[in-house]
Amino acid sequence: MAVSDAAQAQRPGLLTAAQERRARLALAALQRIAAAEDYPLPSERGVVMATPQFRDIGMEFLWYFVAEGGLEPDHSVLDIGCGGGRMAAALLYYLDGGSYHGFDIHAESIAWCERSIAVRDARFRFEHVDVDNPAYHSSPRSALDLAFPAAGDSIDFAVATSLFTHMFSEEVGHYLCQAARVLRPGGALFATAFLLTPASLSELERTGGYVVSFPHEHRGSLIADPQRPEAAVAHFAEPFNALVAAAGLFPERHLAGSWCGQRGAVNLQDILVLRKPAA
Ligand SMILES: C[S@@+](CC[C@H](N)C(=O)[O-])C[C@H]1O[C@@H](n2cnc3c(N)ncnc32)[C@H](O)[C@@H]1O
Repeated sequence: MAVSDAAQAQRPGLLTAAQERRARLALAALQRIAAAEDYPLPSERGVVMATPQFRDIGMEFLWYFVAEGGLEPDHSVLDIGCGGGRMAAALLYYLDGGSYHGFDIHAESIAWCERSIAVRDARFRFEHVDVDNPAYHSSPRSALDLAFPAAGDSIDFAVATSLFTHMFSEEVGHYLCQAARVLRPGGALFATAFLLTPASLSELERTGGYVVSFPHEHRGSLIADPQRPEAAVAHFAEPFNALVAAAGLFPERHLAGSWCGQRGAVNLQDILVLRKPAA
């Protein structure tokens, strides 16, 4: 049953009419994805995140984008570090009237996305940007010098899944500022991260971590592998939240991930919805 915003404020478990409408559209899209025989699946090695779970993870995140972030079918989406189009492929089945622009430093993945996703829908485009991240692409150009390829106040919904988990805080701060610049007032950045909160630190200490652990300190964050610092980066929540605030965004949602060993989490990584205040 859908309720008014005022009634929902009293009983947060109830869906507003807008949430119910979006949930129906998302479920219909998920059904189309599950039934699709021509879903874009990267079989080539060398495409980022070309794993057997490519479609399942796309479906899972499409649901989070809609249910947690409020993504609408007519939104303009900017996918920061879009990799091999894991999110783009799922968004092909949901966006209707909206648009999608993904960019990444990994040229091979962008080429695959252009060949396999952009050809299906003219509202989907991909772009290679040449900045350095030793885990994915080496370049003399620093991420700190990148201006996101979008005009100010032009994007409804920005995505950064599994990106800040490969960057250090100075670059993350710059990317948060760029996201805030391109988002329209009221727009959202949906990001994932390994956030070191008192709760996740104590779970990490108790369990040793699930799938990944962070025994080393590097540039003010914790890392899994000192030989490859960018392979997995966990950020301390307090300085991370200060970067969010300095960028002019506010944290609307934080769903803690299972990476630290916590049971019952919805996703491996923490899910964050960071919103630009409405004008
Ligand atoms: C783990 S993959 C995630 C890809 C995609 N977001 C997804 O969820 O499937 C991380 C991606 O971030 C990209 N990346 C790393 N540093 C970047 C940077 N500074 N700017 C843009 N993309 C970056 C990598 O090339 C890689 O494609």
